[in-house]
Amino acid sequence: MNSRHLIDLNDFSVSDWNRIIKMARDIMANPKEYQDIMKGRLMATLFYEPSTRTQMSFQSAMMRLGGSVIGFDNPSNTSVSKGESLADTIRIVSGYTDLVVIRHPWEGAAQAASRYSSCPVINAGDGGHLHPTQTLTDLVTLTKYKGTLEHMTIGLCGDLKNGRTVHSLIKALSRFDNKFILISTKELALPTYVKDILHASGCPFEEVFSLEEAISSLDVLYMTRIQKERFSSEEEYEKQKHVYILDRQKLQLAKNDLAILHPLPRVDEITPDVDADPRALYFEQAKCGMYARMALISCLIEDDAAKNYQTILPGALHNDIRCTNPRCITNLEPSLPHTYRESGGMYICEYCDERIVL
Ligand code: NCD
Repeated sequence: MNSRHLIDLNDFSVSDWNRIIKMARDIMANPKEYQDIMKGRLMATLFYEPSTRTQMSFQSAMMRLGGSVIGFDNPSNTSVSKGESLADTIRIVSGYTDLVVIRHPWEGAAQAASRYSSCPVINAGDGGHLHPTQTLTDLVTLTKYKGTLEHMTIGLCGDLKNGRTVHSLIKALSRFDNKFILISTKELALPTYVKDILHASGCPFEEVFSLEEAISSLDVLYMTRIQKERFSSEEEYEKQKHVYILDRQKLQLAKNDLAILHPLPRVDEITPDVDADPRALYFEQAKCGMYARMALISCLIEDDAAKNYQTILPGALHNDIRCTNPRCITNLEPSLPHTYRESGGMYICEYCDERIVL
């Protein structure tokens, strides 16, 4: 792998992605051949935020490879409640294990964790920022069911502002020749930094409000939940919920080979009567997630043992500059070194990707 850790899928090269996707497909076909490859290896799952699929698919992935798992999903039962910093928790846990998987409500938390870890770290979701292993899941699903990752019109619908799965997926699929239709309300539009990535990629994209109008042109429809937990007030959430609902009626307008994906959990954005439609792939997608994670775990641990990765050095240190994103981990843990990439007269926070205009 290009990188020791998986914080952002773009840390890996496309050939790294292909290696993981190919291995995931092979594990699906020949699970017995892989059942002992992680024997004697230990993985920690540190879930500071609720999760069903991501946590359990990571745990079952490691166990199906013959390895073991420790961890927590309720940080209030750990020394976090006594005031322990993220850095210290990671220093300790990484000393016990071969791999750390972390989900955290603050943006950039996995990047912060990787700087204090003595073993590889996987980002299992950092606030509204990124979710690279969901994207690996999505890439495995698209490869399996569409046979390609390019030349598609991809609609993403719902909470494009707070949906970390959307940010990671757009970053990944914009490395191929694809067209994007961004379907959301103005309030939940895609963050500027992700739009900048789309602009730089050269992939055409449109921002539209109506799912009905967009659906007939799509090869892939990625539905998302309105991320209630990221709203500043219940009132704001109330205004946004129920805006987008995919039902059988709207589906009549869609192509016969549309792939409907959703990272799940769903609330009401896809009606249950859509589930029986052969274009509804979201339950298959969740299953692909376990195989994607099996492949990822074994690649990272193998490469770590062989020291077969590049060390990516952090950007420039500017402890005098504060990240302006209130949800950035550097604002929860101010003692973290404040490092920035510089681009076009801007400082870009290396934890959460917020652009700071000088
Ligand atoms: C997503 C997440 O946690 O960001 N779920 C998942 O990991 N499959 C999507 C969501 O919670 O809406």
